[in-house]
Amino acid sequence: MRVSPAGPLKGTVTLPGDKSITHRAIILGSLADGVSEITGALQSEDCRSTARAFVAMGAEVEGIEDDRLRIQGCGLYGLKEPEDVLDAGNSGTTMRLLTGVLAGQPFFSVLTGDRYLRKRPMARITAPLKSMGAAIMGRDGGNLPPLAIRGTRLKGTDYTSPIASAQVKSALLLAGLFAEGETAVTEPSLSRDHTERMFEGIGLPIQRNGLTVRVRGARAISAFNLTVPGDFSAAAFFLVAALVIPGSELTLRGVGINPTRTGLLDALGLMGATIEASPPRIVSGEPVADLFVRSQELRGTEIRGDLIPRMLDEVPAFAVAAALAKGPTIIRDAAELRVKEVDRLAALAKELRRFGVDVEERSDGLLLRGRASLSGCECESWGDHRMAMALAVAGLAAKGNTTISDPLCVSSSFPDFWARLDSILPGAAVSLEG
Ligand code: S3P
Repeated sequence: MRVSPAGPLKGTVTLPGDKSITHRAIILGSLADGVSEITGALQSEDCRSTARAFVAMGAEVEGIEDDRLRIQGCGLYGLKEPEDVLDAGNSGTTMRLLTGVLAGQPFFSVLTGDRYLRKRPMARITAPLKSMGAAIMGRDGGNLPPLAIRGTRLKGTDYTSPIASAQVKSALLLAGLFAEGETAVTEPSLSRDHTERMFEGIGLPIQRNGLTVRVRGARAISAFNLTVPGDFSAAAFFLVAALVIPGSELTLRGVGINPTRTGLLDALGLMGATIEASPPRIVSGEPVADLFVRSQELRGTEIRGDLIPRMLDEVPAFAVAAALAKGPTIIRDAAELRVKEVDRLAALAKELRRFGVDVEERSDGLLLRGRASLSGCECESWGDHRMAMALAVAGLAAKGNTTISDPLCVSSSFPDFWARLDSILPGAAVSLEG
């Protein structure tokens, strides 16, 4: 993708549906009795992977190419053994949440993923799921996909996770639906709580006490209707682009602003940015607002601790803001970024250096020395959707042209990203080469 320096971003952007919420709606709709309707669902490769896996186990999912899904569920105890290996593609959420479900099924299944996902750690879910009674095998002692799962009637557990991970928490809560007694998960700081909110919304009782959440084995789930808010993680790239490109003014419509997701707003606030939000409304148990952003001067800052899990997927966008801020920015406590779709600390350090940014890579973060302007360059997305989108923002803000390799990997979470960006740019600032 060729990205040319662009004049101000102006207009209104409607974001695609939230990826995390869409996955969960497909999973729970497939486990419900009757037909569930999901409006505003994200149509992306990752969510299709989840839908296809449930279709392979007997659910019917219509509208996979649409933002309106109709799911004929199998009932909580009605999934059937898949005939073939299930493929989670690039999607960590699919693999980890599905493993939680599969651990509780009276059948055998195998779950694999693409070459990126097959490198990502699974022991974080397979270890606690094994302690609930499931037999799970994988490469590297059960840590790496493919995973072979012999499900069983699980026993509840009380698990303290060493990492704040919504995928770990959600895998165990889903397994807990199939377990005898209670399943409790405690995390070191609060990760996104969409699973908990959705459980409550569809009548699955959940108890929260500080950082511990508890669920009991369930008998059935009734079909439900749900509307998916716009994805804050998709909005992040437009927020940062509007902040760093002088003269920009953007309205982002219908964005999910669940506080477990909006750490980027706090981080940008620390940099001196003000982003206005309309009064929130509640959509299917999630707060949603319109966001208004205009270009502003940013100053370097430090982010760490509990803020990191609340902006985990936004660090690539944040790093671009830091690259153009006045003074240094330090990112700490973010070692989890090394086990995302790719090692995002290494990827950001390498690619932002190509733009002329002075970046020091640390074991758990980055030190970026902001500069007044970036230089256009040839850079690589590493096949990672969020890297590609962050580099696009850097390219728009840079002097000179930028080319980004493998730009279509955005299809994991935001297939329309390039078109949506083009629609708010004057002229042809983004164009596909070759
Ligand atoms: C997600 C949780 C996060 C996030 C991912 C989506 C989810 O991963 O990075 O993009 O939907 O639960 P971890 O749970 O590994 O932190």
